[in-house]
Amino acid sequence: MKTLISPSLLSADFLHLDKDIEMINNSESDYIHMDVMDGIFVPNISFGFPVLNAVGKACTKPMDVHYMIVHPELYIQQTADAGAAIMSVHIETCTHLHRTIQQIKQAGMKAGVVLNPSTPICQLEDIITEVDLVLLMSVNPGFGGQTFIENTIGKVKRLRELIARTGSSAIIEIDGGVQAETAPRLVEAGADMLVSGSYIFKSANPIQTIHDLKALG
Ligand code: DX5
Ligand code: ZN
Repeated sequence: MKTLISPSLLSADFLHLDKDIEMINNSESDYIHMDVMDGIFVPNISFGFPVLNAVGKACTKPMDVHYMIVHPELYIQQTADAGAAIMSVHIETCTHLHRTIQQIKQAGMKAGVVLNPSTPICQLEDIITEVDLVLLMSVNPGFGGQTFIENTIGKVKRLRELIARTGSSAIIEIDGGVQAETAPRLVEAGADMLVSGSYIFKSANPIQTIHDLKALG
């Protein structure tokens, strides 16, 4: 499978979102990554349904929504109604993760579970066969443009082993500090899907940057 690319809207120009959406539509990206933050689970606030609804209408790439909020289970139907293809929730925020995953799937979306950098792979043992996707944070969530945490490479390999051992069909997505140096090593370690924000949007030619990430394998 070719590496799936999900540009993170967090690094876009919010005064001219239409231009960045057009760029994504014209690129080889597979998804558009939407970071929803509540100022409680993470020390930052980003955007909510007005933006999700508008982007859902304008973007031809499926929305990959990453919730960094407490009680994401309250917003499953609204997320589906916005047109999201993937809804990912942090394991650290979900007391009843199994139920939440089932409800996301029942609402017609792919269900993802997200792990903070300090959350071990072993916590996925009893949910890995239920999820469509595991998103490993390779920075502490809340901000774009942070430095990649090296421990993620080993974590991808351990997750790849867990997926093989359990026969899970989950794909592995990585988020944070993905750029020219870290992306090939992540793909080599077993990542299927890369989120990238500042590296794509700050580059001179974002469409070419997306092409280059896509060409990794
Ligand atoms: C961080 C977000 C990321 C962020 C990545 O909490 O989840 O999606 O946009 O930004 P970069 O690629 O700049 O590290
Ligand atoms: Zn994200």
